[in-house]
Amino acid sequence: MDSMLRSDSHEVPLAGIVAHEIRRPLSSIVFTAGWVLRLCDPREIRRALHQIRDLARSGGEVVTQITRVVSGAHGKRTFLDINALVREAVDSFEHDSTSSCGIRIEREEPLAPVSANAVAIRQVVINLIENATAAAGPIGHVIVSTCGGCDYVEVAIEDDGAGIAAENKDRVFEPYFTCKQDTGGTGLGLTLCRHLAAAHGGSIDFSSEVGRGSRFCLRLPVAAEIHRSHIGSERPALAAQ
Ligand SMILES: Nc1ncnc2c1ncn2[C@@H]1O[C@H](COP(=O)(O)OP(=O)(O)OP(=O)(O)O)[C@@H](O)[C@H]1O
Ligand SMILES: [Mg+2]
Repeated sequence: MDSMLRSDSHEVPLAGIVAHEIRRPLSSIVFTAGWVLRLCDPREIRRALHQIRDLARSGGEVVTQITRVVSGAHGKRTFLDINALVREAVDSFEHDSTSSCGIRIEREEPLAPVSANAVAIRQVVINLIENATAAAGPIGHVIVSTCGGCDYVEVAIEDDGAGIAAENKDRVFEPYFTCKQDTGGTGLGLTLCRHLAAAHGGSIDFSSEVGRGSRFCLRLPVAAEIHRSHIGSERPALAAQ
């Protein structure tokens, strides 16, 4: 198997991408296990153990998914309810020690389903939230919202952090570009996000102002079957609301 992910003119070794993606579930498992050790209520302990099991599962799924991406296959696609996926991604930050800022879902419009790989799209949303929480810092805020039209859905992740300096704006999607040398940033998060969005026919754009914050927006096409069957009607079929 080819062990490089191609990103524009750059090649990124599989090992780097897997290391990047596996770090978050592993640190969340360590954090949640530490939480279990301090719990007395059996129901709370049970809940935390379920979370540890889900995190370990998602770590395994991510490795499988990344391996597929690198080999050119993008895994099984299903009709996804993006609102449900976003809620799940936001919930996964609930006990995350690294993201103490407030994350909230502000606007959640009914959306048509997209045909996509759930593991891949969850990774994109989680990476964007992770960057936003890092930028916002402990007293900052992150707002996640969704919206959509007849042929696309959008997930926007907005923070009130430091923003991106003008000289870095053209570089944030470059592999290994990071301003987080101190905290061990790999600079591969946005590279992977852009690759996964493009593999689904989508895109990621951002706007940012130094001192005010940033807004990253993931845009994905509505599933072709849904779009085709509703051309001419006012709204596409809606996913579970
Ligand atoms: N919401 C944001 N606000 C400010 N800067 C951002 C934001 N998102 C990304 N960046 C900038 O883009 C850089 C690249 O992001 P990317 O996710 O690719 O790597 P990283 O976050 O530095 O490292 P890692 O993902 O391994 O933690 C970041 O170091 C940061 O400088
Ligand atoms: Mg990142």
